[in-house]
Amino acid sequence: MKNITILGATGSIGDSALSVIALHPDKFNVFALSANTNWQKMQILCEKFQPKFVVMMDESAIEELSKVTSNNIEILHGAEALDTIASHNEVDFVMAAIVGSAGMSSSLAAAKAGKRIMLANKESLVLAGNLFMQAVHDNNAELIPVDSEHSAIFQCLQSGKSGLSKIQLTASGGPFLHTPIEQLKTITPDEACAHPNWSMGRKISVDSATMMNKGLEVIEAHYLFNLPAEKISVVIHPQSIIHSSTYYEDGSTLSQLGNPDMRTVIAYALSYPSRMASGVAPLDLAGNSPLEFYAPDLNKFVCLRLAFDALKQGGNAMGTLNAANEVAVEHFLNHKIGFLEIANIVERTLDTVQNTSAASLEAIIANDKTARKTAQRIINA
Ligand SMILES: NC(=O)c1ccc[n+]([C@@H]2O[C@H](COP(=O)([O-])OP(=O)(O)OC[C@H]3O[C@@H](n4cnc5c(N)ncnc54)[C@H](OP(=O)(O)O)[C@@H]3O)[C@@H](O)[C@H]2O)c1
Repeated sequence: MKNITILGATGSIGDSALSVIALHPDKFNVFALSANTNWQKMQILCEKFQPKFVVMMDESAIEELSKVTSNNIEILHGAEALDTIASHNEVDFVMAAIVGSAGMSSSLAAAKAGKRIMLANKESLVLAGNLFMQAVHDNNAELIPVDSEHSAIFQCLQSGKSGLSKIQLTASGGPFLHTPIEQLKTITPDEACAHPNWSMGRKISVDSATMMNKGLEVIEAHYLFNLPAEKISVVIHPQSIIHSSTYYEDGSTLSQLGNPDMRTVIAYALSYPSRMASGVAPLDLAGNSPLEFYAPDLNKFVCLRLAFDALKQGGNAMGTLNAANEVAVEHFLNHKIGFLEIANIVERTLDTVQNTSAASLEAIIANDKTARKTAQRIINA
């Protein structure tokens, strides 16, 4: 029986993880759950899974939750408590599924405690890739990607990297793949969040629409698989059936395929190196034809270009990209800026904030603050 902590339990990945775990009560026990504000959903999860600990970030959410949950569940508050449930000595597996840079510290705590980290929070790698991978290595932690593309590459690379010439991440192209740039100016948050294939949280849905999500994934892949930007490519595949591919010197290409459903990825992360049922239907290839592929248009999807540029610059440029994007996306979701302004704000922030070394957590956090302030100033101007 493996004890599991789910960070970000009330989100889209949290939902999928708990639905897979519920299929295998003989294998997994929910030890701890976390959320930000959503105490109503947490109450339902507590009743169903009876965790030992719950962490809420919002103090008023704790008050409400305390009134309605059993005394057997210890309710904690704040970032330090997230680190505690991520590194607790009774925990075996940690699902890192908090959205944004808020998930970095607890992912790092799980790595330092030598856990199996099922990493959905790509921001941990974007901000602190070198520190994070070093912590995984030094503490014999196990890092299993929970992103469909990286899980696909991870699966393709099970027999090693011999003869590997490049990896290729697939991208759906989001809801605006065929929308002319001029029409993107007036896109609403709901339109941007209506992803054609994947059901996800609102922030990552907007990132998919701008293709910043693919850019963050390129950076994530760089750290996970220790490959330079030149060996990572992106192809648009609107059906999201091929999740990603590895290319070899002998002309061979391996791909991992499946229905677009994160439960497959999560089941693999939980059962690795074995496999187990996820609740996802088998793939019907004939029913999904034709499969299409296109090269991404970097003039339209500027965020993808900016992410490649930031990766090539190194240091804190990737953290700056991420921070500016988080600020811009939040403003877009709150109807304060237009869709096309997201890329513009990220680019101007990258041009303004001086790139520094990302050698320490303090430097990374300081840069994150500076980048957020700069992005906010650019928006206010
Ligand atoms: N969804 C996908 O299919 C998918 C696929 C691959 C990777 N990912 C990655 O997985 C992560 C989660 O994505 P998601 O789509 O599941 O997001 P989501 O649906 O928005 O859920 C986010 C979770 O994080 C919690 N949270 C939000 N702000 C927080 C804060 N400041 N501190 C602590 N917890 C906070 C939320 O709690 P409340 O509910 O209380 O707000 C919720 O439990 C992201 O990094 C995303 O890029 C997602």
